[in-house]
Amino acid sequence: MPTLLAIESSCDDTSVSIIKDAEILSNVVSSQIDHTKYGGVIPELASRKHLNNINIVVKEALGKSKIKTEDIDAIAVTRGPGLLGSLLVGLSFAKGLALNLNKPLIEIHHMQAHILAHFIDEPRPEFPFLCLTVSGGHTQIVQVDDYFDMKILGETRDDAAGEAFDKVGKMIGLDYPAGPIIDKLAQDLVPTLTFPIADVPDLDFSFSGLKTAVLYFLRKEIARDPNYIQTNLSNICASVQHNIVATLTQKLIKASHATGITRIGIAGGVSANSGLRHKLSELSVSENWQVYRPAIKYTTDNAAMIAIAGHYKYLAGDFASIDMIPFAKGGF
Ligand code: KG4
Ligand code: ZN
Repeated sequence: MPTLLAIESSCDDTSVSIIKDAEILSNVVSSQIDHTKYGGVIPELASRKHLNNINIVVKEALGKSKIKTEDIDAIAVTRGPGLLGSLLVGLSFAKGLALNLNKPLIEIHHMQAHILAHFIDEPRPEFPFLCLTVSGGHTQIVQVDDYFDMKILGETRDDAAGEAFDKVGKMIGLDYPAGPIIDKLAQDLVPTLTFPIADVPDLDFSFSGLKTAVLYFLRKEIARDPNYIQTNLSNICASVQHNIVATLTQKLIKASHATGITRIGIAGGVSANSGLRHKLSELSVSENWQVYRPAIKYTTDNAAMIAIAGHYKYLAGDFASIDMIPFAKGGF
């Protein structure tokens, strides 16, 4: 069984993980808090930060794992989708290391890795299962037939679920990323505001209407009471969260009925949301679902998910060319 060094740098987190015999020995994530004051990720800033961080993060991951570079069998790295400048830093570093150690490279699709995070720890789902992948850049329902045999059954036509959290958060004065803050403020609150759920055919999603609905609603309320947001902050958060969770789970139920698959996984940053996790627990009873939730540290961007994906590609003998270039968008 191989020992791999895995690198993830697709967005704003630099992360490196070491995996040996399918066991994660280290998973170091360096988050770029600098973006908070800009209300989003600034691509140019992100790539420069990756450049500053990557050496340090690699050393820390190696140190924690007690693995020496000569014991590494291959280097796994995120090729895309993501920010090109950020991906390029991880990819260039991986290529340099692979050449230097004379070891093969393995390319990883970021969204597949989010899904394969389910295989880091027990309980691991059997195939086939459905995965709701919800992050800052993606919202997808994926049918997973095997480690690298996946098909997208539905996806967002505009904003991603995480983007919806972040954009509404910005409107109500919260820092970026707003998803976890909204989650905290919404805790244990019964929402009283109702926002419309977009009527999108098939298994696709749309979240841009929610943002507009909240904007118009707030404008109207602020005209009556300039302190409306401050005095109703938790209720606004709980109501928006309720809307997003309902949108996601309605389509997931539809996908389960259409495919007959009742094994359900969740992946991506938004899968950390407590409202979503709570709703899935309810559905595991009412829909007779077996729900799989990776540990929260493996749901937001991290290199452990790249490492486990790399592990299975290594076993399949699926190696990449040293000439590979990153890609910003694209399915699998
Ligand atoms: O997967 P991820 O770390 O990065 C991307 O690949 O996008 O996801 C980040 C997204 C952000 O939009 C963030 O607001 C959201 O995940 N997020 C949450 C929570 N934790 C992170 N959204 C709602 N509730 C949370 N607890
Ligand atoms: Zn991600």
